Amino acid sequence: MILVTGGAGFIGGNFVLDWLAHADAEGIVNLDKLTYAGNLATLSPLEKDARHVFVHGDIGDKALVNQLLEKYRPRAIVNFAAESHVDRSIHGPAEFVQTNIVGTFNLLECAREYWNSLETQDKEQFRFHHVSTDEVYGSLSSSDPAFTETNPYKPNSPYSASKAASDHLVRAWFHTYGFPVITTNCSNNYGPYHFPEKLIPLVILNALNGKPLPIYGDGQQVRDWLYVGDHCSAIRKVLASGKLGETYNIGGWNEKANIDVVKTICSILDELKPRTDGKSYAEQITFVKDRPGHDRRYAIDASKVERDLGWRPAETFDTGIRKTVQWYLDNPIWIEGVVSGSYRDWLKQQYN
Ligand code: NAD
Ligand code: TYD
Repeated sequence: MILVTGGAGFIGGNFVLDWLAHADAEGIVNLDKLTYAGNLATLSPLEKDARHVFVHGDIGDKALVNQLLEKYRPRAIVNFAAESHVDRSIHGPAEFVQTNIVGTFNLLECAREYWNSLETQDKEQFRFHHVSTDEVYGSLSSSDPAFTETNPYKPNSPYSASKAASDHLVRAWFHTYGFPVITTNCSNNYGPYHFPEKLIPLVILNALNGKPLPIYGDGQQVRDWLYVGDHCSAIRKVLASGKLGETYNIGGWNEKANIDVVKTICSILDELKPRTDGKSYAEQITFVKDRPGHDRRYAIDASKVERDLGWRPAETFDTGIRKTVQWYLDNPIWIEGVVSGSYRDWLKQQYN
């Protein structure tokens, strides 16, 4: 089996579904705390699948993690569990420190003890795959080259600082203890099952509900977008063939300004589900107060994973964003489930 943490969240959920869609896949033990971002509805297609064992719990719970490692004897851990939203990290950084740093530390220590107890062959095969972000590298100007794996870490938000700290712990566990780690630093993901507090799903749902489409500042901030299925295929590839102790940048060479992303979503919706008054959804675009410390540009140079491991994304931004908009149109029941009271409280706090 493999142990996945945070597998009820956006990327972890997609990863678990994708992994088990392969008939010959090993089973998954899925440890997730079910914070506001965790959603068992994402995993409902696996309800009768004996290869998936869901465990409700915290990566910071030492007794629980030890017990799971002892019971299921995984040959790998893929660590997705994290607090992941920059805006929430600005309002309340404590949870980010707790889960992203202290939680990762606990997971590393439990895993190291377990790994030390393995027989030689299992020990050699074991992998700890840490899923991280390009935001650890900080912000680029419009003329800077894209981030490579050798860029210095310069995190600017409580979220990216906490992820950077966890990456450093993972790195140190390799250098000091020889513990078999690999880290991937990926650009912004989008796709199905994305919690609608992040830009793309928020804009799709607000558009359909006749609400304003909030653009922070001037909307010229650039993100490098990757379809979530491509992130999952990259993790599979790195887990199978990545070199121990290495880091790999994952991205799809899809830099877009926020305003252009939002306009693209509007024009796809205009085509697939036109407004009843015949106007464009772009009329709902509203510029709002900028995010404090807002990073101007992220861009990933994915040459290393392409060259060394032969990974390539399957989707372009145009195909991926169309699939994503269609998925939100086709899945009102999943959406109803996530648009709960706590979600409405967040919208009120963030957008007044
Ligand atoms: P998410 O917020 O959608 O999901 C996080 C999941 O982790 C949730 O299911 C939550 O319940 C769970 N969780 C939180 N704290 C936990 C804890 N203490 N113990 C166990 N489970 C816990 O996040 P996501 O967007 O799916 O991101 C997954 C990982 O990928 C994160 O580590 C994130 O930093 C990284 N990442 C995200 C992106 C992106 O664009 N979303 C890009 C690059 C990297
Ligand atoms: P987000 O999806 O929160 O991802 P991240 O901050 O991790 O990159 O935001 C993507 C970009 O969209 C980012 O530059 C902030 C911007 N943004 C808005 O302009 N309006 C919004 O309502 C949100 C949530 C984000």
